[in-house]
Amino acid sequence: MTATDDQAGTAPYAPPREVTDIADCYFYHTTDIPGHGLVHGEWDLRGNIDAYLGNFEFRGKRVLDVGAASGFLTFSAEKAGAEVVSYDLSPAQRWDIVPHAKLDRAATDADRSRHLQRLNNGYWFCHAANRSKARLVHGAVYDIPASIGPVDVAIYGSILLHVRDPFLALENGARLAREAVIVADVPPLGLLGAMMRAPRFQPESAKPSLHDTWWNLPPRLVREYLAVLGFPKAVTTWHRQKFIQGDKWLYTVVARR
Ligand SMILES: C[S@@+](CC[C@H](N)C(=O)[O-])C[C@H]1O[C@@H](n2cnc3c(N)ncnc32)[C@H](O)[C@@H]1O
Repeated sequence: MTATDDQAGTAPYAPPREVTDIADCYFYHTTDIPGHGLVHGEWDLRGNIDAYLGNFEFRGKRVLDVGAASGFLTFSAEKAGAEVVSYDLSPAQRWDIVPHAKLDRAATDADRSRHLQRLNNGYWFCHAANRSKARLVHGAVYDIPASIGPVDVAIYGSILLHVRDPFLALENGARLAREAVIVADVPPLGLLGAMMRAPRFQPESAKPSLHDTWWNLPPRLVREYLAVLGFPKAVTTWHRQKFIQGDKWLYTVVARR
């Protein structure tokens, strides 16, 4: 993907892509697409998106949506009155794959690349249907460019579990955030796990097929990460969301400077 310079600066915004065939798209989120109808994804956040986003007041805010996928959070924040920069991998970048010794790395990367193409298509399809003004920057979470400029709030929705170094991932977006960082994520299994500070390492040597997820981070640890990074005033809330395999409890931490 070639990047273009922002008219006003140097942020590497991706040129909007026209996607005409919905069959070329993957939708991570169940979405009512204006003019097209309902598409089904892995997560249906429609009924409880405000809780997912920590009931944050987005009106008038500049927002960075890290790991935007098919854009449900981006378009929700935009509808709530925010200007949004979406951030995600493109097929040209590599997912932070768990390097299982038994994994065919080349085939896995190729699969992931095809998936990202369809995911990016889903984003642009919804972007056009919503007449969105959000802009997309492609890159790995470790390389969020400072040229995006300051934002009021950075959102990390269910992305930290997918990266080997979640602290570095947070640090990269948090440095752009003037006011707050929002982290929504999947807790370690069970109440006790959720109450602890230790992360749960997800990869299992016997299951090389599970290679796209690294951690279950408890909210206490996420709060400590964010406090270290200068966001000590944190509130954690819990909410239930519809997942394709059944409802799940998730948490959201809203941490402020
Ligand atoms: C589980 S989805 C979450 C989507 C959305 N943020 C939400 O909360 O519903 C994870 C997203 O993070 C992106 N992602 C995963 N690893 C990444 C990385 N290393 N760098 C940048 N984005 C990444 C994926 O492409 C995907 O869009």
